[in-house]
Amino acid sequence: MMNWQKSLRIKLKEQESLKNHTTFRIGGAARYFIEPKNSVELKSLLRLLIRYKISFLVLGSGSNILVSDKGVSGAVIRLSSNYFKKINYSGGFLEAKSGIPLSGLLIFAEKKGLSGAEFLAGIPGTLGGALIMNAGSQDKSIGELVKEITVMDRNGNIKNLPKNKIKFGYRNSSLGKYIILSARLELLKVDKQEVKEKITRYLSYRRLTQDLRYPSAGCVFKNPSGYSAGEIIDLCGLKGRRIGGASISERHANFILNFKNAKARDVLRLIDLIKKQVKKKFKINLEPEIKIWQ
Ligand code: FAD
Ligand code: EPU
Repeated sequence: MMNWQKSLRIKLKEQESLKNHTTFRIGGAARYFIEPKNSVELKSLLRLLIRYKISFLVLGSGSNILVSDKGVSGAVIRLSSNYFKKINYSGGFLEAKSGIPLSGLLIFAEKKGLSGAEFLAGIPGTLGGALIMNAGSQDKSIGELVKEITVMDRNGNIKNLPKNKIKFGYRNSSLGKYIILSARLELLKVDKQEVKEKITRYLSYRRLTQDLRYPSAGCVFKNPSGYSAGEIIDLCGLKGRRIGGASISERHANFILNFKNAKARDVLRLIDLIKKQVKKKFKINLEPEIKIWQ
């Protein structure tokens, strides 16, 4: 056992395969995989990682990440304990910890008759991952709901960031340097049934247009201004193109599917192929939305 692990009071896994922690079901192992129970444990963990100069990445549901075949050489931290899934409604705001899945957040919102977050239905991420990415659909994104976010910086200091101290853009935010701990969201009190119906509408549009039959990370590329990346990849005639175990979806061309034990390398080669063809035909540089961990 290395020195730093002796000082750590938290259970740690070594060489944990990240395949089982990403929706793509692809990728090598994390050298260290750690799930702190609460923010006190998280803080002491960060202190140790700094002291021993071990790099780290934070994982949510792994629904926007492609892990390389070699895996991650440092530590991966996941906020998966019950503490990081707490949610409540108080003082007119929904308050939730960052590890709660968006599906859990929506079940709570529906039960309380809180409207405004229904567009998140079907996004398979956690609240923390959604805030970092400014996740959204149909011209709405989570940043619009934020009143305040509580974060921990890389040294373990906790800060409250009011809305006006945070920048949200299309599928990005200024939060990347922090670990998100929790958020207060502003939602509207309405009839439960109204929330339920909206959720159903968002889910059915998604089921109609997206490819959910195989593991994926959703849309691989961001939409370039004025276009849908899916449509232009489709117009390049790339639907159904396969490399190794990965293929471009026949239903939605911005989805790359892991149809049979795909390697990250297969996906990266498809990404490269798409970028080249789109550049050639449309003179557009597509930018990945997914985060590539290598
Ligand atoms: P991860 O993928 O685990 O991580 C994403 C980034 O956030 C990483 O940089 C990670 O380090 C960071 N991160 C995660 N949690 C924290 C934390 N607590 N603190 C600090 N950093 C953190 N996205 C959309 O926006 N709209 C969609 O409609 C949509 N549809 C999808 C459909 C499918 C089928 C799939 C597979 C994905 C889809 N996505 C969509 C992409 C993805 O679900 C979102 O980006 C989601 O918000 C990612 O959340 P996550 O918890 O999985 O984050
Ligand atoms: N289209 C095609 N061919 C395709 C795919 C799409 O012609 O293969 C056309 C559709 O017919 C439609 C247009 O492109 O006219 C837009 O398609 P869609 O409504 O599916 O939306 P999108 O722009 O492809 C965006 C988000 C999705 C989000 C949906 C729904 C991005 C990169 N994608 O997709 O988010 O769920 O809108 O609002 O912004 C994600 O980020 O991972 C993601 C899935």
